[in-house]
Amino acid sequence: MAPIYSRIIATGSALPERAVSNVDLEKIVDTSDEWIRTRTGIRQRHIAADGETTGDLAFLAAQRALEAAGVKASELDLIVLGTTTPDIIFPSTACLVQHRLGANGCAAFDVNAACSGFMYALGIADKFIKSGQSKKVLVIGAETLTRMIDWNERETCVLFGDGAGAVVLEASGEPGVYATCMHADGGYKELLWNPVGVSVGFKDEPNHGVRIKMAGREVFKVAVKTLDALVEETLQAAGMQASQIDWLIPHQANLRIIEATAKRLDMPMERVIVTVDQHANTSSGSVPLALDYAVRSGKVQRGQNLLLEAFGGGFTWASALLRY
Ligand code: ACO
Repeated sequence: MAPIYSRIIATGSALPERAVSNVDLEKIVDTSDEWIRTRTGIRQRHIAADGETTGDLAFLAAQRALEAAGVKASELDLIVLGTTTPDIIFPSTACLVQHRLGANGCAAFDVNAACSGFMYALGIADKFIKSGQSKKVLVIGAETLTRMIDWNERETCVLFGDGAGAVVLEASGEPGVYATCMHADGGYKELLWNPVGVSVGFKDEPNHGVRIKMAGREVFKVAVKTLDALVEETLQAAGMQASQIDWLIPHQANLRIIEATAKRLDMPMERVIVTVDQHANTSSGSVPLALDYAVRSGKVQRGQNLLLEAFGGGFTWASALLRY
């Protein structure tokens, strides 16, 4: 039997209207545009309005992807949504978005793999299609990470933003996704986490203790080393050389981490999609936002090979090598 591949047939994304620059942040914490730009590459981030949720951004991104694909919501047989900032505890944000789209009846669930959420969701969706279980799948990465930020803590508040991206995947006889890789190591949980919740309990602190805690320098070191190994593994799994990759579309957390991965692949920065300057770190939203920007700006063309990767809390790390 001929192999079944999953192919991205269209992309979409959504950002909150309000953009907040580094200079704006200078007014609320002891930081500077120069520090943020040179350490991270970030110039601005978008921040959700009061009442605007992860699901709202996910819905918009999904609508745009479906419209670009010419696919009706009722044709979907699966929705997988990567997020670590769901609207409510349950139902899942995937279920909330499914109902708003009018895709009622298909399977829908969230994946929490922190910043690797979209890459995990894409890997899972690819397996559903390859197994013959699903034909048309909506994969979303969406976050309102700024809801978990302590705006007095300059070490973290300058790094994150809100946003969502989505892709429509379809079963095809042509590639398609060549390979996906997924990993996690829970032994690193305390380097990047938000240690409150329903079962552990919340705290008698501002925002009930919900805030990101990160050991930035340590995260940086492990991220660079781990992503080096991940891109090698992904190339091997796809049976490809780095020279066959047209575009690297990395998780947008820090320009220096992105540059290190590009160097490892011997790829000039002209072949790397960078949106961290505009979006900051949108966690699960980051890769699909960068992909949608790359597609809609005409950089990424049909038939090109794309290497997507992400690293995040857990730690988790995941990738996909695909022909667009
Ligand atoms: N403005 C000004 N100064 C600051 C700020 C700020 N916003 N934040 C920290 N500093 C100060 C520190 O207090 C420290 O001062 P000191 O030397 O007097 O003690 C100094 O800057 C250097 O701090 P470091 O933490 O060592 O700075 P570093 O060069 O490591 O950069 C950064 C920090 C940007 C967080 C970097 O470590 C990083 O990007 N790490 C990876 C984080 C990341 O990518 N996380 C996301 C990946 S996973 C995910 O996406 C959730």
